[in-house]
Amino acid sequence: MIAVVLVGGEGTRLRPLTLDEPKPVLPIGGVPFMSLLLDRLAAAGVTRVILSCGYLPDRLRAGIGTPPPGLEVEVVVEDEPLGTAGAIRFAAAGRVDGPFLALNGDVLGDADFGALVAAHRAAGAVASIGLTPVDDPTRFGVVVHDEQGIVERFVEKPPNADGLGPAPWWVNAGAYVLEPSVLDMIPGDCMVSIEREVFPQLVGNGLICVRSEGYWRDIGTLESFLTANADAVAGRVHTRLQGSEEAVLIDPSATVSEEAVLVGPVLIAADAVVGARAALGPDVVIGPGATVAPDATIRGSVLLAGAQVAAHATVERSAIGRNALVGERASVSGSALGTDHAAGAGEALVGERRPG
Ligand code: GTP
Repeated sequence: MIAVVLVGGEGTRLRPLTLDEPKPVLPIGGVPFMSLLLDRLAAAGVTRVILSCGYLPDRLRAGIGTPPPGLEVEVVVEDEPLGTAGAIRFAAAGRVDGPFLALNGDVLGDADFGALVAAHRAAGAVASIGLTPVDDPTRFGVVVHDEQGIVERFVEKPPNADGLGPAPWWVNAGAYVLEPSVLDMIPGDCMVSIEREVFPQLVGNGLICVRSEGYWRDIGTLESFLTANADAVAGRVHTRLQGSEEAVLIDPSATVSEEAVLVGPVLIAADAVVGARAALGPDVVIGPGATVAPDATIRGSVLLAGAQVAAHATVERSAIGRNALVGERASVSGSALGTDHAAGAGEALVGERRPG
């Protein structure tokens, strides 16, 4: 089985973290997101992955790491963004001769891709869409379907749930199985969206959907990036981290003061340093080589590699970028600092992006 993974987006909602690092290689629980996705694809029996990228391709290549044994990874680079369908066509045409997986490259999950492939084959479908249940459909593409999983219509980001039946609502999870014939429906010279332009044409012509109850989260906003990190450490999503709700995972090379107060889930990566009376957790990831000075407080946040939080500073629901600095007695809440940026000593940041 071949999988095409879409990783060409600029990740604008996750700026400034994505200004110099593509979203698919940002860390989740201290591991590049793409490594977790490759684990999952290998477990589903995929042997070849084609990464369809355009934005910062060199950083993407560098961030992937070593693929799991038995998995070959090829990076295909678009000259300009082609949209989700155009990118699938560009990456898959000439490389597939049977049904293949196509995935959005920014969804943390643990549903079994093998089950989606099996349902597609059993139904003799032309295209199959994986679905996930949500309690609020307004940010998603709702897929209205019958009891056999035959797709009837799409409702993109509805203003409310009127006319959509009872909760939960089943939305497009960004995971598809496609027959090669779908590629012939995609024009080659312009931006084309698979959700908005290709799937509607296939309604009544072999388009099915498959429900899955597993963990599912698109990591594309600051809030969801932080939650995905916490969920990985807490074991709410099944990954190689094998975390738990009370997990305090400390790399052996980290230096953590005996006087620090750690409330799980917390992960402290290689070579990080945590000072006396620092209060960490719950839902905290301290990246490789990051430093938390004495008496600092960190909750619900992620420090990327080499970030520094000075003494008596407070960081809440925030992401601190690579080598970024939170100064002494500064307070950072609901904010994101980009690589090498700083919150000055005593400064208070609320809901800020720096650079904006
Ligand atoms: P935002 O700018 O914050 O909306 O993020 P994004 O650029 O990642 O867009 P979005 O979340 O809608 O994209 C979903 C997935 O499709 C992501 O994995 C993107 O990398 C990918 N994607 C979106 N557009 C393109 C494209 O034109 N080409 C390729 N190769 N991938 C794309």
